[in-house]
Amino acid sequence: MKIYDRADRLSAVSYGIRGPVMQEAQKMMASGVEVLRLNIGNPAVYGFRAPKAVSDAFMNCVMDTQGYSDSKGLLAARESILRYCKKKNIPCASVDDIYTGNGVSELIITTMQALLNEGDEILVPCPNYPLWTSAVSMSGGKPVHYICDESSEWLPDIEDMRKKITPKTKGILVINPNNPTGALYPREILEKIADLAREHHLILFADEIYDRIVMDGHEHVALASLAPDLLTISYNGLSKSHLVCGFRSGWLCVCGNKAGAEGFLDGIKLLTSTRLCSNVPAQAIIPAAMDECIESTNDLIVPGGRLYEQREAVCNGLSKIPGVSVVKPKGALYVFPKVDMKRFGFETDEQFAFELLREKHILVTHGGGFNLPTADHFRIAYLPQAEILADACEKIGDFLGNRAK
Ligand SMILES: Cc1ncc(COP(=O)(O)O)c(C=O)c1O
Repeated sequence: MKIYDRADRLSAVSYGIRGPVMQEAQKMMASGVEVLRLNIGNPAVYGFRAPKAVSDAFMNCVMDTQGYSDSKGLLAARESILRYCKKKNIPCASVDDIYTGNGVSELIITTMQALLNEGDEILVPCPNYPLWTSAVSMSGGKPVHYICDESSEWLPDIEDMRKKITPKTKGILVINPNNPTGALYPREILEKIADLAREHHLILFADEIYDRIVMDGHEHVALASLAPDLLTISYNGLSKSHLVCGFRSGWLCVCGNKAGAEGFLDGIKLLTSTRLCSNVPAQAIIPAAMDECIESTNDLIVPGGRLYEQREAVCNGLSKIPGVSVVKPKGALYVFPKVDMKRFGFETDEQFAFELLREKHILVTHGGGFNLPTADHFRIAYLPQAEILADACEKIGDFLGNRAK
C-alpha cells in the first residue's frame, strides 16, 4: 500500500485551540452532551451580531461583487482603510500599500512565506496566538519566543527580546492587545520595541486585530505610528471589532520605510496575486464598517456593555477560586488565568482542560495551545453572558476544590 503521510514541513505546526481537547468536546456534543465552549473567540456563537450598517452592506453588495477584484482588494475598501490609518497616525502612504485578505490569518501566512528563508528567525511573543508560530515554522523560519511577563501584567520583557536577537533575526512580532493574555501595551514599551528594531535593522510586525476592543478608558497606540523610519507590517480586520469572524475580512498595511525591502514586498504582491483576490463581498463591507460604524461596538466595552460586564464576571469569579490567579485584561476577548496545577494533582495543563471538560462540560484552551511551556495556564474567551460565565467560574471552583490536596 502506498502511504500518504503529512508533509514534513508541518511537523512544527500546531493549533491547540482546535486540538485534541476540542475534538473530545465535539464527540461529547455529537452524543448529546451540552458543552459550554469558552475556547474560541467567535462572538456570533454567543448572539453577538454585526452592526446593522455592516450587515446591510453585505446584503446589498451581492450583485456587484460577483467578479474577482484587484488582487490587493477593492479600491473603496483600501481607501477607507487608509483613512483609518491616518486617524491612528499609521504611516501608510497609499492605497497601493494595502492588501485585503481572507481574514488576517491568510495574510500572516502570506507575509511569512514571502519573507523567510530556511533558518531565518522571527521574535514571537510567548504566550502567543499560535498561528504566528506555525506560520513562521511552515515558511521554513524559526520562531524564537520572547517572554511576556505575567508579573508585569504580561508586558514584553525587552531585555529577553534583546538577548534573543541573532544575525538571523529578521523581525519582531507584537500582538497588541494580546491574545491570549488580553494585555495592552503602553507607549513606552512600544517605543522600546521600536528602538530595538531600529538598532538591529529589523522589520516590525504589528498584529492589532483587537485595537478597537480596549477597556477602562485606555488608548491603543499603533506600533507603526511610533516608527515611521522603520518598516512595519500592520495587520487588522473586521473579525473582532465588527463581530463578523465568519465573513473573513482582514487586511495588512505596509507602513513606514520600505527601503531595502523591495524583494520582500514584491513577494507579498506575488503571493496575493496567485490567490487572485480575497473574498469580494467581505471587502465590500469595509467602507461601511470603517467609515460609518467604527464606533458601534464601543457600547459593548464600557460599564453596562456586554463585553465589559462579561470580563468583570469572569475575573471576579476566577479571583475567588483558591489556587487560581488572573491578571485582569485591558483588551481583546480573553483571560489567561494561572492554576497551581501541583496542588490539584494535574501533570499538565492539557490534563486539566480534559478533566474539566469531562467532569463539568466546560471547554477551555490549555496554555500549551499558546506555546507557553510552563503548563500551568488556560484561556477563557469571555463571550457568553455574564451569568453563564459566573456560573462557569463556580463550577471550575467546585472542580478544583474537590481535587485540592
Ligand atoms: C491575534 C490574532 N491575530 C489574528 C487572528 C485571525 O483573525 P482573522 O479572523 O482576521 O483571520 C486572530 C483570531 O483570533 C487573533 O487572535
